[in-house]
Amino acid sequence: MSAPFDRSLTGELAVGDGQDWAVSPQAGDEERVVESALRPHSLHDFIGQPKVARQLALVLEGAKRRGRTPDHVLLSGPPGLGKTSLALIIGSELGTSVKITSGPAIERSGDLAAMLSNLAPGDVLFIDEIHRIARPAEELLYMAMEDFRVDVVVGKGPGATAIPLEINPFTLVGATTRAGLLTGPLRDRFGFVGQMEFYEPAELQQVLARSADLLGVELTAEGSAEIAGRSRGTPRIANRLLRRVRDYAEVEADGRVTREVAEAALALYDVDHLGLDRLDRAVLEALVVKFGGGPVGVATLAVAVGEEPHTVEEVCEPFLVRAGLLARTPRGRVATEAAWQHLGQPLPRGGIPLGRVTADPQVSGASSEALFDA
Ligand SMILES: Nc1ncnc2c1ncn2[C@@H]1O[C@H](COP(=O)(O)OP(=O)(O)O)[C@@H](O)[C@H]1O
Ligand SMILES: [Mg+2]
Repeated sequence: MSAPFDRSLTGELAVGDGQDWAVSPQAGDEERVVESALRPHSLHDFIGQPKVARQLALVLEGAKRRGRTPDHVLLSGPPGLGKTSLALIIGSELGTSVKITSGPAIERSGDLAAMLSNLAPGDVLFIDEIHRIARPAEELLYMAMEDFRVDVVVGKGPGATAIPLEINPFTLVGATTRAGLLTGPLRDRFGFVGQMEFYEPAELQQVLARSADLLGVELTAEGSAEIAGRSRGTPRIANRLLRRVRDYAEVEADGRVTREVAEAALALYDVDHLGLDRLDRAVLEALVVKFGGGPVGVATLAVAVGEEPHTVEEVCEPFLVRAGLLARTPRGRVATEAAWQHLGQPLPRGGIPLGRVTADPQVSGASSEALFDA
């Protein structure tokens, strides 16, 4: 782990390699390999998301009975909640193969046309981060989704002609962390939109039990409750913390993940009871201790913890807001009563300097989306 905080922002919001930040919702490169081993392979194995899972089951079953391809499916929600897993499950439930690509990977519409015309009847085409698809490719996609046709442009310049080409019926599954960035016409062409929600601790415990089985780890109910409570409602984080705790259990204990072992391991990795890491806590502490609970501007707060305002705003705050510890107000950031309590600080005499704070849903909503940008 590197100092001072083990989160490096690279480029956009991809956070480091996901390896040294225990509670990043993004997957690191090595992690992707481990994750594929832990992915559920059928709707039956898929835990939680009862609404999306049931609706999807009906969509798929209905299509199977009619012998048609199901409606195109859009899965939207924060990273680590199971969108890729569900896309692959759709293929296996339909008994078809899944071709995988992503919005940023489709640079030219010709690439997409080639991919579409290579689909076998009934195939699933999975486009991850579909909100980042280039506009010309997106326009090509409209016709493909609607009529199973693509226009192939032959020649260049004024002599170029578009030749319509039939493609096999397919199901497009799009995943996005930023549904708001999707254009209207694209969004309208999805017959089914599944909105993924954060998981309840009990659901995360089921995820953990399943993963522990697959990894051959002995995990007690208390151990799993301890991990689930710190996983920020996100299966990816739960699985990652489980692997960290397993390492600790093997080296420092008898391999069994009990509550004591989970607590000691997660303390070592600086993940506290609410799933806050060192930087989250530093931000909260600065706000409460140095600035008396606020309101204070984000730039000042960032200087106080030695981070970029961007990092504080996009990486820490969305979860602090979601956890009800911090509010963004027009006058600046303010600690909620829960924040004082979480840090074990006595409440200031005269109460919290909240003033007329209403957490601005627009502000917090927009920014928590930013955190989830892949
Ligand atoms: N409902 C679920 N049941 C079991 N495991 C899950 C579930 N959702 C996610 N996971 C686990 O979390 C990891 C990340 O899920 P993934 O589908 O890659 O999320 P997303 O594509 O939304 O970022 C997967 O490897 C999988 O093991
Ligand atoms: Mg994914």
